[in-house]
Amino acid sequence: MMRVALVGAGGMAGMHAACYTAMENARLEGVMDIRLEAAESLAAKHGAKAYHSFEQMLTEVKPDIVDVCCPTPWHVDYVLEAAKRAAELGIRGISTEKPMARTLHDCEKMRDACAAAGIPLFVAQVVRFFPEFLLARSQVQQGAVGTPASVRTHRGGYMPHAWDDWYGKFEWSGGCVLDLIIHDFDWLRWTFGPVERVYARGLAEKRLPIQDFALVTLRFRSGVIGHVEGTWSDPAGFKVTLEVAGDAGLLEYNCNQPVAAPLKIALFGGESSREAVAVPESPTDYNPYQAELEHFLQCVETGTTPSITPQDGIEAVRIALAALQSIQTGQPVTLTDAC
Ligand SMILES: NC(=O)c1ccc[n+]([C@@H]2O[C@H](COP(=O)([O-])OP(=O)(O)OC[C@H]3O[C@@H](n4cnc5c(N)ncnc54)[C@H](O)[C@@H]3O)[C@@H](O)[C@H]2O)c1
Repeated sequence: MMRVALVGAGGMAGMHAACYTAMENARLEGVMDIRLEAAESLAAKHGAKAYHSFEQMLTEVKPDIVDVCCPTPWHVDYVLEAAKRAAELGIRGISTEKPMARTLHDCEKMRDACAAAGIPLFVAQVVRFFPEFLLARSQVQQGAVGTPASVRTHRGGYMPHAWDDWYGKFEWSGGCVLDLIIHDFDWLRWTFGPVERVYARGLAEKRLPIQDFALVTLRFRSGVIGHVEGTWSDPAGFKVTLEVAGDAGLLEYNCNQPVAAPLKIALFGGESSREAVAVPESPTDYNPYQAELEHFLQCVETGTTPSITPQDGIEAVRIALAALQSIQTGQPVTLTDAC
């Protein structure tokens, strides 16, 4: 049984806590939050103990897994502390929510600390576990639309309401570029390879209290062009779309379409150029958050490398920060260190 210590007791921590409770090989033992009442409320739902002190939680729980679900700027503190005490306490793995950290320097410190401790650091880039995105990637890789030339994504809704309005504090969240469309940056890089140039326009510099928007153009080393749109300016609710165009046709996903056929491929030539081919979706009771955490725990148990590495987390942050730099300067940014 894997003993889990959770940092944060907000929205994402609640989701992770429910996932651990549903797992047979895990037990949520501790929940820590700077608001003790929030930790108490979440811990009580899952039969865990609430903590105000991370140090005390680590010492008492002696967790196998530390899972960091607090706001982005503080991921680094908890990951470094847990890595430092890993050998003493028997900590076997650390997971952190996306984005990995607020700065590249923090990301690198987290990667290096876990490597020095000899334990895996998992960056919970959950879109890789969404069935539509998994299916879209495998279709692209199997050549369903031929050689990809361009890809277009849209993600967004309203700015989340959370503790201390932290999503609206650009210095903390990085706005919709670092917090939201990092999901797409990670999936796109995973699917189409390294990005060499980033150009973006957006509202980040305006620091609007409840709105943000960005349009990011990516040039991949492969020659594929990406068009990534993110918004926290849509009060009508959350929407996600994806289009991949290749020399054989177009793959399209729109989360607002009927659930029976969310992924469509339309091909050039023959009958299929007039009618879309529907690809069946995965079962609806599948929870991608649970799938990602189960994957991580299984890797820890078996000593295998998680499918998302610290370097993957770093590269996603690198693309997002380049987009923010481009928004600020109005100039394209070349990613010389990208991999
Ligand atoms: N993967 C996803 O789909 C997804 C979705 C939402 C959020 N997230 C990420 O999860 C993380 C948490 O976001 P959230 O929406 O749960 O935020 P939230 O505001 O709902 O919850 C944050 C919690 O952390 C606590 N907290 C604040 N500072 C802390 C600190 N220094 N130490 C310990 N606890 C602290 C707050 O009291 C609050 O209970 C962020 O990194 C966010 O980007 C990921």
